[in-house]
Amino acid sequence: MNMIKAMNIYKQFNHLEVLKGISLEVNKGEVIAIIGPSGSGKSTFLRCLNRLETIDQGILEIGGDTLAANGPDGQVRYAPEAEARRICRRMGMVFQQFNLFPHLTVLENLIEAPITVQGVKREDIVPQAEELLGKVGLLEKRDVYPSRLSGGQKQRVAIARALAMNPDIMLFDEPTSALDPELTGEVLKAMRKLAEEHMTMIVVTHEMAFAREVANRVIFMDNGEIVEQGTPEAVFGSPSQPRTQAFLQRVV
Ligand SMILES: Nc1ncnc2c1ncn2[C@@H]1O[C@H](COP(=O)(O)OP(=O)(O)O)[C@@H](O)[C@H]1O
Ligand SMILES: [Mg+2]
Repeated sequence: MNMIKAMNIYKQFNHLEVLKGISLEVNKGEVIAIIGPSGSGKSTFLRCLNRLETIDQGILEIGGDTLAANGPDGQVRYAPEAEARRICRRMGMVFQQFNLFPHLTVLENLIEAPITVQGVKREDIVPQAEELLGKVGLLEKRDVYPSRLSGGQKQRVAIARALAMNPDIMLFDEPTSALDPELTGEVLKAMRKLAEEHMTMIVVTHEMAFAREVANRVIFMDNGEIVEQGTPEAVFGSPSQPRTQAFLQRVV
C-alpha cells in the first residue's frame, strides 16, 4: 500500500526553483534514505510532505488521502484545513535541532501534543509515553528537563515525542547532523529499531553507512531533482549517474 505519493512536485522560494518536479512513492513499511548535497532541496521536500511548506504544483497523497492537488485552473488546492491537519498528523517529524520544549520535562514533552492536539486522556497517554521512553532507553530521564540531557538523549526524546502521536510515517531531517560523532550511534540505533518494526520512514541523512544498512531504497537528490534511486547496493555500489558518482566520491 502507498503511504506517500508525491507526483511532480514544484516549489519556488521567490524566484529560486527549489523542487523541480519531484515524484516519489513510498510503500507501507519502506525505509527511504534521501542523500544529496546541501541546498539540493531535501529539507524542502520533507517539509512539503507535512505542509510545513506549501507546494506550487503537483499532487500529494498521504495514506490514500489527497493533501494537495492541481485544480482545473492549474493552481494547487489543499484539502480543507481540518482535513489537511488530520492528514498531516499521520506523519511525525524529527529535525536536526531537536526542538524540545525547554520548560517541560521529558515526559511532559511527550504527552503535551497527544493531550492538547489529539484529546487523549492523560492517564491513557502516560503509560504509552513511558513505554516509548523505555524503547529509546530514557525512562530514567522521565522527569528531567531537556537542558540536563546530552544531544543524543535530546534527539531520542524528540523521536519518542513524535512517536507518541502514533504516526503512520516518520520523517527525519538529518537527525544526527547536530550531534557530536560519539552520540550519533545511540540515535541511529533508535531509528534502526523503528525500521525493524516496519515503520514507514523517510530519512534525510549524511550517514551513508546507516543508509546502506537500513534503507530499502536510496534516493539521490541534486539541484531540486531526483537524479537517481535504487537499492543501497545499486546506488552506493554502482551508481549510474555522473552526479551521483561525484557526490559519493566526495562523501564516502
Ligand atoms: N524558507 C526559505 N526561503 C528562501 N529560500 C529557502 C527557504 N528554505 C530553503 N531555501 C533555499 O532552498 C534551497 C534548498 O534548501 P533545502 O531544502 O534546505 O536543501 P537541503 O535540505 O538539501 O540542504 C536552498 O537554496 C535554500 O537556500
Ligand atoms: Mg536540509
